Amino acid sequence: MSTVAKKIETGLDVDPMFPMPVGRAHIGREITEEEISFLRGADRHSTKTPEGRVWHNNWGPPDANLAAHPEMKDIFDFCGTAILSYFKFVWPSAMPRASLSFTQTWFNIRKRGGQHEAHDHSNSFISAVFNVWGEDPIIFEPPKTSGLFGSIRFGYETSGFAPDFVPIVIPAGGILIFPSHLVHSVPRIEDPAGRCTISMNTFPVGSMGDGDNLNSLMIGGVGIGENEELPEGAMKVNLATR
Ligand SMILES: [Fe+2]
Repeated sequence: MSTVAKKIETGLDVDPMFPMPVGRAHIGREITEEEISFLRGADRHSTKTPEGRVWHNNWGPPDANLAAHPEMKDIFDFCGTAILSYFKFVWPSAMPRASLSFTQTWFNIRKRGGQHEAHDHSNSFISAVFNVWGEDPIIFEPPKTSGLFGSIRFGYETSGFAPDFVPIVIPAGGILIFPSHLVHSVPRIEDPAGRCTISMNTFPVGSMGDGDNLNSLMIGGVGIGENEELPEGAMKVNLATR
């Protein structure tokens, strides 16, 4: 959705008052065989299901942190840079006082016929999905705050102001970045090769707010992207540092 006013046929200006930021970027290269074989073979911290396999453990031993594996370094360097760019764009004044830290990183391999029910990413701020292979879409649902506009369906809307379910196909090597509260799902996978995605949650670290507004908050951690050491605070989040 554009962030500029749109003038329609009658000369009426329509402004997007609360646009939803969804970021896209591409790593600019093919996924390597080394990366694919690592993901296919990495089963120590993953759970097998009839539909595929999910790595979902970010706690415990260091090798439970997907982002810490050397085979994944280039992908997570790219993802971290892209997410930080998104963060800077949406909150241009946040840095350098605050940054983001990866809190969970995991992958999901699903066979054809698999699906992923509607969900959001709780206890997370900004989430992202990096597509390794597969051509099936991820479906985003309009936020409940859309009110009447969110509950009336005339068909497939295209203006972006009367939200409907939004399917997005992320190309292999592409990342999609979105607010963690957005509900999304993956319908039945039709691609014969199935689908492999790497997902990640992030949370703010550093100093935000201020004492005058009674909303000062400091969370210690290591920022992503620029690997910046942030001030030690009274609270600690899960530091999925690399
Ligand atoms: Fe998700």
